[in-house]
Amino acid sequence: MFNVAIDGNVGSGKSTLAKELSERLNFKVLDTGAIYRGIACYYKSLYKTEPNEKIIEDFVKNIKIEIKFIDDKQHVIVNDIDYTPYLRLEETSMMASTISQFKLIRESVLSLQRQFAEENNCIIEGRDIGTVVLPNAQIKLFVTASEQVRAMRRYEQMKDKPNSPSYNEVLEDLRLRDYKDMHREIAPLKPAKDSIIIDSSNQTLEETVECCIKIIKKKYVENSN
Ligand code: DC
Repeated sequence: MFNVAIDGNVGSGKSTLAKELSERLNFKVLDTGAIYRGIACYYKSLYKTEPNEKIIEDFVKNIKIEIKFIDDKQHVIVNDIDYTPYLRLEETSMMASTISQFKLIRESVLSLQRQFAEENNCIIEGRDIGTVVLPNAQIKLFVTASEQVRAMRRYEQMKDKPNSPSYNEVLEDLRLRDYKDMHREIAPLKPAKDSIIIDSSNQTLEETVECCIKIIKKKYVENSN
């Protein structure tokens, strides 16, 4: 199967990019952040305290994680509860960033991600796809943009919603999550050695998509020859 790994930091636009590419290439797409978000929701439903090694050890013992595609939309189901409506809540984002630092949590989703890649021509997006999950992916893209550009994109997405945060709050939250993702001991966010860096700070979405399509098609043709 042909696998495209897309990693990138908070607000880099990797989800939007992955979705656009998947539609144009007719590839499936797996959003792995959503899996950690689903686990975070389940954790919050069980525990009122912050996670630690001991709690996580118990927590993962009986965890069952499923991904289903309903009308082309990815659903995350943990222990038979579909958490999809709650994945994008701010409180979920923070807990996902915290919980994804634990080795046992990461191990519990590894085989699910690899199986998806084995069964589909696909784009898998996350933080450690090119480095850990799919070290042999045919294409590895690392998507980024300046902090200010990423914060402004997030702010624009949220500003008309009730209780939306200010630009400065968005920027602070983004810095905190970036720090956690990049400095954790296990599978920190970093470009794989053989990844192609896509800096979208000064590009429109269309320009970024076009640039990635060219890279992917070239490799796809080389691979089929
Ligand atoms: O991409 P996202 O914001 O939906 O991801 C939510 C959190 O999950 C993020 O803080 C980091 C974590 N994550 C991860 O550790 N590894 C991945 N492959 C994807 C996400």
